[in-house]
Amino acid sequence: MIDNPEPTIDIGRRLARAEPTQQFGRRLEDKLVDWLLSDQRFKTQVFRLVDVYPALRSTADRFDHLYSYLHVEAAPRSVRMGLRLASRSDLGRRGAVRILDTSISRMARRFIAGSTPEEALPTLSELWSEGTAPILDLLGEVTVTDRDAERYGTRVDEYLTAVASRMASWPPQDHLVTDHHGPLPRLSVAIKPTALSARYHPLSSDVGIAEAAQRIRPILRSAIRHDVFIWFDMEYYAVRDLTVRLFKMLLNEPEFASVNAGIVVQAYLRDSMAQLEDTIEFAGSRSHPIGVRLVKGAYWDTETVEAAAHGWPSPVYAEKAETDANYEACTSVLNAAFETVRPAYASHNLRSVANAIADAQRQKLPDNALEFQMLYGMGDDLRRATNQLGARTRFYAPVGELIPGMAYLVRRLLENTSNESFLRQSRTHEELDELLAPPGPRAVS
Ligand code: FAD
Ligand code: 2OP
Repeated sequence: MIDNPEPTIDIGRRLARAEPTQQFGRRLEDKLVDWLLSDQRFKTQVFRLVDVYPALRSTADRFDHLYSYLHVEAAPRSVRMGLRLASRSDLGRRGAVRILDTSISRMARRFIAGSTPEEALPTLSELWSEGTAPILDLLGEVTVTDRDAERYGTRVDEYLTAVASRMASWPPQDHLVTDHHGPLPRLSVAIKPTALSARYHPLSSDVGIAEAAQRIRPILRSAIRHDVFIWFDMEYYAVRDLTVRLFKMLLNEPEFASVNAGIVVQAYLRDSMAQLEDTIEFAGSRSHPIGVRLVKGAYWDTETVEAAAHGWPSPVYAEKAETDANYEACTSVLNAAFETVRPAYASHNLRSVANAIADAQRQKLPDNALEFQMLYGMGDDLRRATNQLGARTRFYAPVGELIPGMAYLVRRLLENTSNESFLRQSRTHEELDELLAPPGPRAVS
């Protein structure tokens, strides 16, 4: 270890020391999953099974799918033997299905805070008492019927009201409710625009935006009434510009001039810097600050496969190091705009988070200007570490049923098991300084 490291490395080491367990993703369960999914072909089969599973009703149907997806050459020998044994008796088939049911519901419990707000509230309250605040997310996306879109809008409104009312009586956590611009709501809520109109795609963008806007306005009114922050999540690239238009259109309406709301920039997009600059310019035209959440992007696999299938140039970087480097470039620009925006860094990567803090110190931002955000069930150690250092930290808390939540769960599984993800790298690289090295080619294992 060098004695005078660059500030990012120094802060990264301090964050690592602040978390007593220093696990940074080294959970036994994750190591088991790493082993199970070490073969890419088998991993693909597992994802296919997880994708169709909630739609399968009978035990026989479930076992048939389990067997045909997982009894393949690429599977670990123990899995193939287990399945063969199970297939010989009714008891064995039922046992195998029970193991799979348990595994899927364990996974759901890990990443989903509850199936209803009532069920999630004890967890939210416990994390609040630890000093972190929730960003409530109603699971659901890409709606294909008007009825579902209507229902999603109404339920977001109901959930928002129910949780905000309960949170009002929780003990104060001063560092969570103020930043350099002034007071901040206790509760944040995330919305996915594709869930709010069945026509939310580029070929029917005007009608899609109008329908989504019509369902979001009541949510924004409730947010003002109950003092809640609304995040417009960013989804796949084809609807990125629709969401930017929708966000600006609503925030330009006089009744929403001082609503607390934010939008997301995905650093894996090659044109993300232009979107960030455009968002900052928009923020500068308003008297009330807007939130900007910087993420890397959750749809990398889909974007890459889609672009290749159509022979289009991919909108996302091909190399992880390019995304990481762009995240740091965007960080610097976002921090510099702190007078008109509320910068939020959503990452489980110790290096990306440490770099955001180091850059803010270099640019002399007020201490409470940055917010850190992590997903429920991921990066728990980093969440505790940022919290220990007194940084404002929120966690994204999905609530809802397994079927509408399946796409979300698959994204989390992909993220957790990707060879290149920080969380996985932190399980395979023992040296902290390797994890804190500037973006560049790194050995994957
Ligand atoms: P890292 O392991 O450092 O980065 C992983 C990411 O790098 C991948 O997700 C991908 O974006 C990128 N990547 C992986 N492989 C490659 C490659 N070969 N080439 C180029 N890039 C690659 N995502 C959204 O899209 N929209 C949202 O609205 C959104 N909201 C979020 C809110 C919160 C609170 C959090 C914590 C995350 C949110 N995310 C969102 C998800 C976020 O994009 C992923 O969690 C994130 O990409 C993982 O990044 P990381 O810094 O934690 O991990
Ligand atoms: C997702 O739904 C968290 O918005 C992010 O994957």
